[in-house]
Amino acid sequence: MQRLLDHQTQANSDISTLDTPFLADALAGLSAGRKSLPCKYLYDERGSQLFDRICELDEYYLTRTETQITADNAEAIAEAIGTGAVLVEYGSGSSLKTRVLLDHLQAPAAYIPVDISEEHLLGTARVLQNEYPELDVRPITADFTQGFDMPQGLNSERTCVYFPGSTIGNLEKHAAIRVLRLISEQIGSSGGLLIGFDLQKSREVLEQAYDDSLGVTASFTLNMLRRANRELGADFDLSQFEHVSFYNAEAGRIEIYVESQCDQSVTIAEEQIEFEAGERIHIEYSHKYTIPGFAQMAESVGFSQRAVWTDDDNYFAVMYFEK
Ligand code: AVI
Repeated sequence: MQRLLDHQTQANSDISTLDTPFLADALAGLSAGRKSLPCKYLYDERGSQLFDRICELDEYYLTRTETQITADNAEAIAEAIGTGAVLVEYGSGSSLKTRVLLDHLQAPAAYIPVDISEEHLLGTARVLQNEYPELDVRPITADFTQGFDMPQGLNSERTCVYFPGSTIGNLEKHAAIRVLRLISEQIGSSGGLLIGFDLQKSREVLEQAYDDSLGVTASFTLNMLRRANRELGADFDLSQFEHVSFYNAEAGRIEIYVESQCDQSVTIAEEQIEFEAGERIHIEYSHKYTIPGFAQMAESVGFSQRAVWTDDDNYFAVMYFEK
């Protein structure tokens, strides 16, 4: 939050001296031939609240399906992970799934939630520490796509990385493989990886999940422009951009864009960006895998598949790998 407030204060007082990663990424992305903004900037305070609402939508089956798979198979999952492991969770650790897992794990040596958003992370870690007073909870603020150092003095040789939520699907395939390689190096020869990812299915189900009837997903996407206006002093007219999403079956991914509704120009930090009617800014990919396709990707960096759990509709998969 403090970082956000710092940005807001700067944005309100003197945009010309603003120098943030968001500004650099926004200017680079919007000056390219094919305009884009990195999806990590979707998650400011409002974006995180909107994402929480998405997770509860009827059309967005991902969260409830993964939670159900985890609850239905908690004992088998805990057994696969084994006794006395250090559990390292990539991404937000506030969810129900983490608690289900912690409730079933046998004598976990430590729980290490890793997240880029320090405020969210520390809040979650505090709550979990209160709920599990015996557990050694050691939050790490880091961008896990870049790798990070594990805390010293952990009381176990065995590390299991827990990477739920289909977050890996938001990475392009080469980046997903890079993160899997980083995990494979981090867990050494005796660790494991428990990962949740979304499966390929009918276009209709997929497209509804990313364009819901209440328009929450559209607000979530457009919040990127609202954030740029607030933090970077940009002047996007939100009524002149629309959320567009579709399933690209060949690439196996949902693609999300904002589309300019007219010819217009937008100013960001004294740079003028021109848009033609119908021109799009790429915001996010959400890759959908098959179980063999995902296993092959994990195997390419040294993992072996040990177990896979799915739901009755085969909408979502939770897989467990070891080296
Ligand atoms: C966070 N991530 C797994 C979500 C997804 O389904 O790809 C992000 C999202 N974007 C729009 N709706 C949900």
